[in-house]
Amino acid sequence: MFGMTISTSFWVWLLKVIWIPSVPLYILYRYLKYKKGRAMLIGKVVLITGASSGLGEALAHKFYMCGCRLILASRRRDELERVKNDLMKRLADIPTYAPVVLELDLSDFTTMEERMETALSIFSHIDILINNGGISYRGDIMSTNTDVDYKVMLVNYFGQVAITKALLPSMTRRGSGHIITVSSVQGKIAIPHRSAYAASKHALQAFCDTLRAEVASTGVKVTLISPGYIHTRLSMNAITGSGHTYGVMDEATATGYTPEYVAQRILEAVIADEKDVVISSLGPRLAILLRCLLPRLYFYIMRRRAKKLSHAMHGGPTGGHQQPPGARKNK
Ligand SMILES: NC(=O)c1ccc[n+]([C@@H]2O[C@H](COP(=O)([O-])OP(=O)(O)OC[C@H]3O[C@@H](n4cnc5c(N)ncnc54)[C@H](OP(=O)(O)O)[C@@H]3O)[C@@H](O)[C@H]2O)c1
Repeated sequence: MFGMTISTSFWVWLLKVIWIPSVPLYILYRYLKYKKGRAMLIGKVVLITGASSGLGEALAHKFYMCGCRLILASRRRDELERVKNDLMKRLADIPTYAPVVLELDLSDFTTMEERMETALSIFSHIDILINNGGISYRGDIMSTNTDVDYKVMLVNYFGQVAITKALLPSMTRRGSGHIITVSSVQGKIAIPHRSAYAASKHALQAFCDTLRAEVASTGVKVTLISPGYIHTRLSMNAITGSGHTYGVMDEATATGYTPEYVAQRILEAVIADEKDVVISSLGPRLAILLRCLLPRLYFYIMRRRAKKLSHAMHGGPTGGHQQPPGARKNK
């Protein structure tokens, strides 16, 4: 009894003297570290792919406000110019640099080396590469044309790989550089009707894990970001199994995180040199754990989900193309 009293009061003492004061101290330490890391970003050259909308656009704003020199890349020059103009209207309390626009098609990976030579010639080097551009997909495997699988892999995987390989020699020569790749929670778990997308993101995960190990001694850092749903036009721009544009704002996407929130979290990950970052609510995190610890239960849940989706789309377990009303044929 006496022993129990002593041990209880010991824990109360420990809480009062060590734990409670250490919480604000830890928060202050994290804040000062973040401020210092942010200051280190001033003047850094950051290439962002997919900078014309959604998360890429939000990332452009975050890094611009840190005083970075930006190269904004994607296919739509007019949208990149709009982002550039918006950025230049922003007022920062530190000197900022006019962003440079670079037209780039991730699916055309044969020209990537030449495109990256152009990118390198702008500021003579790249400090931070953010592989963010990508497309999503909706459809079941049986009714998906293989050229759709090919296109998704081309944009989401081979395009990023080609850019990374084209920039790596200059980064390793300089002994510094940071490669950030935006994957998805679906790079860690696969869900029905997303085969091509999940496969491309799983491939990115494997590529980045290998790359991180291989370049560790060269001073080049690698960060993989796996977000859950973000409120962008990703589902609107997704392609279906027949190659049409999906054109629907999914509810999960509409109620997802804001791009600004995810961009801020990515900025923090860059500053703290985090390696593998999941940005999601508890549900997807639990699903990742379940896939690892209790795969049979995960497969059972996914089987039910596939059945439900299939009935909703086709009124049965197989057949038919997923094509919502008003879907357009992709170019
Ligand atoms: N939204 C989500 O729920 C979510 C969740 C997890 C991960 N992500 C990932 O976040 C990244 C950004 O997507 P987002 O949500 O911001 O969607 P978004 O608004 O549709 O943006 C996609 C970006 O990728 C670019 N892009 C698409 N195809 C391209 C190509 N062939 N070549 C060059 N650029 C291309 C687009 O630019 P152009 O059209 O101008 O080329 C656009 O800037 C993607 O990698 C996506 O997989 C999104």
